[in-house]
Amino acid sequence: MILDGQQASSIQAAARALAQGRLVGLPTETVYGLAANADDDAAVAQIFAAKGRPADHPLIVHVADAAAITRYAQAVPLFAQQLIDAFWPGPLTLILPCLPGVARASTGGQGSVGLRCPAHPVAQAVLRAGQQLQPPVWGVSAPSANKFGRISPTTAAHVAAEFGDDLLVLDGGACAVGIESTIVDCTRGVPVLLRPGAVTRDAIERVCGQRPLSKEELAADTPRASGTLLAHYAPNAKLRLMTAQQLQAAVALLGDDAPAIAVYHRSPLRSPASRLHLRAMPASAAEAARCLFSDLRDLDALQVPLIWVEAPPEDTADSAAWEGVRDRLQRAAAAG
Ligand code: TXA
Ligand code: MG
Repeated sequence: MILDGQQASSIQAAARALAQGRLVGLPTETVYGLAANADDDAAVAQIFAAKGRPADHPLIVHVADAAAITRYAQAVPLFAQQLIDAFWPGPLTLILPCLPGVARASTGGQGSVGLRCPAHPVAQAVLRAGQQLQPPVWGVSAPSANKFGRISPTTAAHVAAEFGDDLLVLDGGACAVGIESTIVDCTRGVPVLLRPGAVTRDAIERVCGQRPLSKEELAADTPRASGTLLAHYAPNAKLRLMTAQQLQAAVALLGDDAPAIAVYHRSPLRSPASRLHLRAMPASAAEAARCLFSDLRDLDALQVPLIWVEAPPEDTADSAAWEGVRDRLQRAAAAG
């Protein structure tokens, strides 16, 4: 059931559902989450079951404000505090050392906890309403509200289509960011970028004076992060990433097979076959991120076996801003 997230009664209904151990489809500015009370292990177990997610992939705990960190994290290094001051509420998740025994089902007992303070007004309202309940809900665990490995949802309708009418989903409109939060591991003495997103590597460096390491630069004992698995975000169609030149050459060769292919292009295509399914990727990185998952779902709904995608720029002045979109496309392509 989809409820209007603008209504105070919907916010109260969602907060109560969370307190009673039920799941809620929750809008955030990045993607919609499948939410449960972080301190209710049985409720969190339902998230893993509904998503088909392996139990050893920890969940992000969402909090209303930076003050709620003390309920989950043991310590906040200086650079993490600087990131919080600069980017919360917003699309940034920090991995911090966990207080013993809290949010056990979400952390998978890893000794670290992923914390994020979302900016979306509906998410904020639900988190604040939860804090007012007796007993309070201090944190809400929420992975993206999609089945494991599939495309993340950016509208309430996407969530309802994936989990059916029994799930309470708050409608908060289409997500403004469109790809999941940037994840920075703050447990290793230096910032480590586990997942690129709208808060870019450059922005992190500007704020804390250190360039975040890539996870490849670390030893192989990094905690599991399903948003960081090589093959993820898979549409049903096989997705192929190509350069503009490769795409132009391939499209020029198409004849009767054109209707079997959807093309997500950035450069104008010369004389494409008339029955080819075309969609243009927005020119700016932020717009492309906002539309990415929704466009991939639309192209997938054409039931074509193949989606050809023009890869984002690697050598332009704004190529760093494309890291999040490039990452999601590379992993969608690896799944095929
Ligand atoms: O934008 C987002 O982050 C969305 C919205 C709903 O907030 N959530 C999201 O959750 O993308 P999910 O579960 O799809 O991805 C969370 C990522 C996973 O890759 C998970 O493994 C990682 O965060 N993660 C969570 N806690 C962790 C921890 N303690 N150590 C390492 N990785 C962790
Ligand atoms: Mg996900």
